[in-house]
Amino acid sequence: MSLDQPSPSPRTAPHDRLASALEEDLAAVGAIIRERMQSEAAPRIPAVSAHLVEAGGKRLRPMLVLAAAGLLGGGGEAARRLAAVVEFIHTATLLHDDVVDASTQRRGRPTANLLWDNQSSVLVGDYLFARAFELMVEVGSLPVLGILARASATIAEGEVLQLSSARDLSTTEDTYLRIVRGKTAALFAAATETGALVAGADAAAAERMRRYGDALGIAFQIADDLLDIEGDAGIGKNRGDDLREGKLTLPVIRAIAAADEGERAFWRRVLGRAEVAEGDVDEARTLMRRHGTLASARAEADAWAARARDALDGLPDHPLREMLLDLADYVVTRAA
Ligand code: IPE
Ligand code: IPE
Ligand code: MG
Ligand code: MG
Repeated sequence: MSLDQPSPSPRTAPHDRLASALEEDLAAVGAIIRERMQSEAAPRIPAVSAHLVEAGGKRLRPMLVLAAAGLLGGGGEAARRLAAVVEFIHTATLLHDDVVDASTQRRGRPTANLLWDNQSSVLVGDYLFARAFELMVEVGSLPVLGILARASATIAEGEVLQLSSARDLSTTEDTYLRIVRGKTAALFAAATETGALVAGADAAAAERMRRYGDALGIAFQIADDLLDIEGDAGIGKNRGDDLREGKLTLPVIRAIAAADEGERAFWRRVLGRAEVAEGDVDEARTLMRRHGTLASARAEADAWAARARDALDGLPDHPLREMLLDLADYVVTRAA
């Protein structure tokens, strides 16, 4: 790690400060990813993988592994491999998620399911998952393997729960929380907990890092759902997808709870029956604004970000701890 180099200005975005502090490690992680996504037997695999990997992405999850490890004693080569594993799992889930959500844009590019087909996205996603497990075995820690295997199952549970709850107007906030905790926070929590473990952290410190990742992931996903409604073209994904796919995100659940009879009829038509007409996305936004549910969902994201920061209490005083604290603010204020 290059922490003895001059640190970037505190005005730089927390995400960029972390990327500079972890620059060398991230370059090594990128090299592992490129090497492991190869396949001589099936050239479609590196073609599809490179399309997504070379489009960039924020690399948040590998940074979380490396930062947790760096904060708690450093994890060397094992932490780099682990960071690559986590980004591989993330990439696999993105390929699958874009099929499930019938999305056409990801990281500012056409999705792989659009450029190739659903079959290629599903199968290449499977390949990347399998490669992640090969690489995980090389890290050589059964507890780490156990945490990542469980997280992979939990992500799938979250995605399936979301699928089966879609278009159900009686979906509760509790179900929403279970969905986001599964599909998103599980990998954040596994990244920070296993990062701590490969650095040799004690159980209490690893548990704090797990709690940080869990709360950060929930804050991140609530903010992501708000970007689908309020974000600009810079998010690099289709906006309004959630509404078209009938997903009940937090501000929608709260707007339905506050709806009068006419508004309920609107939600039943758009979400329940998937009859989305021109202007309905704008109308949905107007209803959420009327009932203040975009603001209250943002407050909920802020509360989870605060929980993430609290989880870092008592961890070593270190520049990386400051960056992780700032990252909790970044995930709820980001524009992409
Ligand atoms: C996208 O995650 C999937 C969600 C959990 C919302 P990111 O926003 O971290 O995706 P990339 O890697 O930066 O593209
Ligand atoms: C992404 O969920 C979660 C996973 C990839 C497991 P979403 O469907 O909400 O995220 P985006 O908007 O496609 O990135
Ligand atoms: Mg999606
Ligand atoms: Mg999805």
